[in-house]
Amino acid sequence: MSSNNFAGKIGAILATAGSAVGLGNVWRFPTETGTHGGAAFLLIYIGFMLLLAAPIMIAELAIGRHGQRDVLYAFKKMNGGRGHWAFMGYLPVVAGILVLSYYAVVAGWTLEYAFRALTNDFFNKTQATFQQDFTTFIADPLRPLFWIFLILALTFGIVALGIQRGIERGAKIMMPILFIFLIVLVVCSLSLPNASRGITFLLNPDFSKVTPHTILSAMGQSFFTLSVGICCLCTYACYFRKDVNLFKDGLTVAIIDTAVAIMSGLVIFPAVYSVPGLTADAGPALVFITLPNVFQYVFGNMPVVAYCASLIFYMLLVMAALTSSISMLEMSSAFFHKEKGMSRPMAALVMSIICMILSIACSLSFGIWNEITILGLGFFDLFDTVVAKILMPIGGFLICIYLGWSVKGDVVFNEVTNNHTLHQPLYPVFMFVIRYFAPTCIFLIFLSGLGILKI
Ligand code: PFF
Repeated sequence: MSSNNFAGKIGAILATAGSAVGLGNVWRFPTETGTHGGAAFLLIYIGFMLLLAAPIMIAELAIGRHGQRDVLYAFKKMNGGRGHWAFMGYLPVVAGILVLSYYAVVAGWTLEYAFRALTNDFFNKTQATFQQDFTTFIADPLRPLFWIFLILALTFGIVALGIQRGIERGAKIMMPILFIFLIVLVVCSLSLPNASRGITFLLNPDFSKVTPHTILSAMGQSFFTLSVGICCLCTYACYFRKDVNLFKDGLTVAIIDTAVAIMSGLVIFPAVYSVPGLTADAGPALVFITLPNVFQYVFGNMPVVAYCASLIFYMLLVMAALTSSISMLEMSSAFFHKEKGMSRPMAALVMSIICMILSIACSLSFGIWNEITILGLGFFDLFDTVVAKILMPIGGFLICIYLGWSVKGDVVFNEVTNNHTLHQPLYPVFMFVIRYFAPTCIFLIFLSGLGILKI
């Protein structure tokens, strides 16, 4: 099999799951669930995963796998060679650069915290000190930049190595370790005193907390966590072999991703509730301020356990971030490599440099540039808003219109059934969602998110 493809089915699933499983699961999911009241948010989020994000993911996989080269080519090819959807080929370039530029900032924070855990920096500190440490660190003009550079350099190294030797091998090594770490931490966390309060928070819904904003956030989270809407998975699917079962593998990835998010919740919420006075609604600071404090408090009389638990937790975050950042760099580099004839390492290098420059702006928006705003948002928040609230829903909408209405039905059917060799009983449901349900939902939710429609 050519080295332009993932060598095996497992490699394809793990690389796709690697893109999906990331800070979105271990950092954003607990944060969003914590601030939106727990189990009710979880249920709505699962609904969006099944009815919206997973079908769009399968649509992206079908388009990419049909094309076998890059996103721009794929959108032309599936449409019978007609070029008027070719503009979609630029979406992963722009979105990949923007998303990696701010994602690398948080990924950098995870490296700093893994380093602090390794050097036993958390020992004997209090909540106030953790708070102070974190605010000082993210506002520092230089230190976070060093970690951003490191994460981008690692990401570049893996992408430059190629699809099989870099991306696939990286996923095959990191994903199993990530699972093992997660299981160890779940077991640790569930054995803490008062763990049941955290479990109740995560699993016992209180629908009185649900507002229109909860629904919007749940949709945003389902898109972000599965990496859908900006043709990231479409890029990876260009490297899928023709014998991959798109429905089965797509659903497997969606299940793995949801399982990791729920397991992260099972690590974080029982731990937080085991410390008197702490709550789960601390927002983005949850994993950088609340958790180091929790590790010290609950394992205070067992310093070795506290040391290992925090080290494992931050290593887990680093690996989750890395498997996703690889996919972000790949989606923008692939265009220049495949369409513009640049070598893979050169394309990845140029994209990494652009991302480094933009990441500097995002990082400084927590410190000396916090006065600089565009539309009232600092660079970090601006990039996050553009990607998660604008590009992902618009991209998801366009993918549905393209596959549901522009591409000929038999081309889609042939692709998802591997030329009639697979039975896909869910195909009619999938087509209904892609043609009618998903575009309508996205449109309404998008309008309400912009404040145009009041729900
Ligand atoms: N799905 C990743 C996460 O949950 O962290 C984030 C992500 C990766 C978003 C790739 C978008 C993307 F294109």
